[in-house]
Amino acid sequence: MTAIAPQLERDLFMLDLAARGAQRGHGHVEPNPMVGCVATDSTGVVITADHHRTYGGPHAEILVLNTAGDRMRGGTLFVTLEPCDHEGRTGPCTNAIIDASPARVVIGHRDPNPEATGGIERLRSAGIEVDLVEHEPSRRLIEPFCTRWAKHRPWVVAKWAQTLDGHLATRSGQSHWISSVQSRRLVHRERGRVDAILTGIGTVLSDNPRLTARGVRHRRIARRIVVDPSLRIPDDAALLQTLEIAPLTIVCSQDADARRQAQLHDLGVDVIPMPVHDARMNLQHVLEQLQSRHDLSTVLVEAGPGLLSSLAAENCIDEAVVIVAPTLLADARALPSLDGQSPDTIADGLTLTLRRIHRRMDDVVLHYGVSAGSETGNP
Ligand SMILES: NC(=O)c1ccc[n+]([C@@H]2O[C@H](COP(=O)([O-])OP(=O)(O)OC[C@H]3O[C@@H](n4cnc5c(N)ncnc54)[C@H](OP(=O)(O)O)[C@@H]3O)[C@@H](O)[C@H]2O)c1
Repeated sequence: MTAIAPQLERDLFMLDLAARGAQRGHGHVEPNPMVGCVATDSTGVVITADHHRTYGGPHAEILVLNTAGDRMRGGTLFVTLEPCDHEGRTGPCTNAIIDASPARVVIGHRDPNPEATGGIERLRSAGIEVDLVEHEPSRRLIEPFCTRWAKHRPWVVAKWAQTLDGHLATRSGQSHWISSVQSRRLVHRERGRVDAILTGIGTVLSDNPRLTARGVRHRRIARRIVVDPSLRIPDDAALLQTLEIAPLTIVCSQDADARRQAQLHDLGVDVIPMPVHDARMNLQHVLEQLQSRHDLSTVLVEAGPGLLSSLAAENCIDEAVVIVAPTLLADARALPSLDGQSPDTIADGLTLTLRRIHRRMDDVVLHYGVSAGSETGNP
């Protein structure tokens, strides 16, 4: 193993601290990226740490500098994202940093926004030592933000609960409840933080879900979205009975019954007709439409194998959260998690990157990265 220099090791430790804090902004700051910041004084002692807390609110650096005051002089500022150098909703962070006179600024990732970058050069020209460090957690924090820029669609997190032998439901389509109460609480928490929850008509017909966040504190109200090409959703669907709690979009075929489209529209449903070829919509286009119409940053997918497989085939899944329950169905005809691909070799399969793993009662929750996200790499 290669030894890393003590200074770099300390820089990475502080950036880890900043990145952990940044995650507390999830659900509050989007469509801005999550950002965290830590300040140490001239002797290396931590003065304070903070994060970007709310969209349109002060950036993490400003909160930290306000608390640190004069103790910042000669110290080091660790920030997960390059400080902005432009007049946005708040003033440029670079001015505030220069005024606070730290000796050094350590940055976890360059700002991918061409309007906001330039902070590094500005700080250097003011005589501050600036180090841009390769820091994976800082890169991950801005992935949703970069996806909006690069792919013109929201960040897509696919979540499913499966049995230990890889099934989403029994052969009759029954899936309540594969996962534990604690795992389901985790899902409700996430529902309260994302902009939208996407499902397919198969899940609506089989499970009649509400797709609302219950028993948790909301950070935002997620729009429910159903891919329902032929408008098979029944009038008594729970999604239609809960329109006053959360908005609903139905994405249907352009050829779907016009009267039914109008009926749903009159009920307050946002109906988006899309072209369908060979019984398939282009889901990348669907996601682009949804983003431009509703300004979505993060979408949580809670669907069956039909929609999950279509999204995977179109490379439209960025992250997967798989809850594995300690149940064996031992039935080859029970529903698989994904379907429809026929790789000849193992190497032709989809390879994911395991990012985090934790336990909820007897379930194991696995967090995977799906896309490499190379376009977000540090220059
Ligand atoms: N364990 C879990 O976490 C979990 C989560 C959700 C659901 N489930 C289970 O999954 C089962 C339902 O699976 P499912 O595959 O039928 O449901 P689904 O994925 O929710 O819906 C599939 C339907 O969505 C439409 N669709 C999907 N991709 C499309 C595309 N590219 N273009 C156009 N339409 C598209 C199709 O509708 P049309 O047929 O109308 O064309 C398709 O039949 C149920 O048993 C449910 O309990 C399990």
